[in-house]
Amino acid sequence: MDNFVYENPTRIHFGSGQIAALAEAIPSGARVLMLYGGGSIKSNGVYDQVAAALAGFDWEAFGGIEPNPRYDTLMRAVERVRAGGFDYLLAVGGGSVIDGTKFVAAAACYAGDDPWAILAEQAPVREALPLGCVLTLPATGSETNINAVVTRAERKLAFYSSLVRPRFAILDPATTLSLAPRQIANGVVDAFVHVIEQYLTYPADARVQDRFAEGLLLTLIETGPKALDDPNDLTLRADIMWAASLALNGLIGCGVPQDWATHRIGHELTAHFGIDHGRSLTIVLPALMQARRAAKRDKLLQYAERVFGIDQGEPEARIDQAIAQTRAFFQRMGVETSLADAGLDATAIDTLVAGLEDNHLLPLGERGDIGSAEVRAILEGAL
Ligand code: NZQ
Ligand code: ZN
Repeated sequence: MDNFVYENPTRIHFGSGQIAALAEAIPSGARVLMLYGGGSIKSNGVYDQVAAALAGFDWEAFGGIEPNPRYDTLMRAVERVRAGGFDYLLAVGGGSVIDGTKFVAAAACYAGDDPWAILAEQAPVREALPLGCVLTLPATGSETNINAVVTRAERKLAFYSSLVRPRFAILDPATTLSLAPRQIANGVVDAFVHVIEQYLTYPADARVQDRFAEGLLLTLIETGPKALDDPNDLTLRADIMWAASLALNGLIGCGVPQDWATHRIGHELTAHFGIDHGRSLTIVLPALMQARRAAKRDKLLQYAERVFGIDQGEPEARIDQAIAQTRAFFQRMGVETSLADAGLDATAIDTLVAGLEDNHLLPLGERGDIGSAEVRAILEGAL
């Protein structure tokens, strides 16, 4: 494996009743802006729990951060932070609220003319407000990582800074019991693909990372369908919440090649056609596995054997089965696995390829050998 530096200082408070820990987790005397989404936290009791825990603080709330958080909404939050003199941010919600809060934390301290440069030009983040989070949707890993994804018009762009890593994350699986089946599924498949992006590349003599990754994949395959069948089982939600966090907290990506082509292409599907993040990935991944099967051959065979128990037959047939099993898992989770499933046809492909080109995101893949022609071939395989 390659050399690496690993640090993940986010303090995790995991389990029932942990929202009360907010009172200790936020420094006393902080002036707190709590940011949330479209209102799910008001109907499932999370808002009230947060309000009770914040009783000793000077705090206000900013609601309305939408799924795939929008730049204009976040800039309104930045104005509010500046006008109100807030010095600590608390995100309460899913990945969109946490990502949006990360951007607000950086943009509020940005010294340049226009914070859009943080996303569009990858302008360095030199300062950010401290933030913590209460996670309500296990999926993105945003609760302990340094990434954030923001949308403006039809551009969905990411930035990365250790300055926006949450200081703490409260993970109470009970907060996820109010999720609709669609969001349970989106979260499970998103976490699954996060593992795949860091695992299904080429062998790198990283046995620990491989076994951790396989353990997470097996856990998601076991618990995801059960959580759809039994939406009241809190033990399943706990496993899913922890698996999704570990899937993208940096650990399994240490010292190994990483792909992320499925995500980059998926982001274009969301930006142009409004497809939920998780579902954008399940549309792309089976076709990407097929198109890249030669480059990923060794890891596909390892994945077939260790994740699906496929160890008999010709190698090419084993790879076929592993791709079929991946698709079957996604279908079991009720998500789309082709462009046609999402109501799209070949006319979408030009738009998607142009989006990647215009945002200067090519080439993609663990070897940097997926250009426009290869993306086009992957998407043709996803029809
Ligand atoms: O807005 P509210 O009313 O809260 O409703 C949300 C939203 O409609 C709802 N929801 C969340 N928790 C709930 C709940 N409904 C009922 N009960 C609960 N406990 O779920 C809907 C979707 O929420 P959202 O935050 O958009 O979902 P998710 O966590 O999947 O986040 C997706 C965003 O994260 C980005 C995606 O691109 C997308 O913008 N990602 C961030 C990453 C990161 N920071 O590392 C990596 C990922 O690959 C991903 O790109
Ligand atoms: Zn994702």
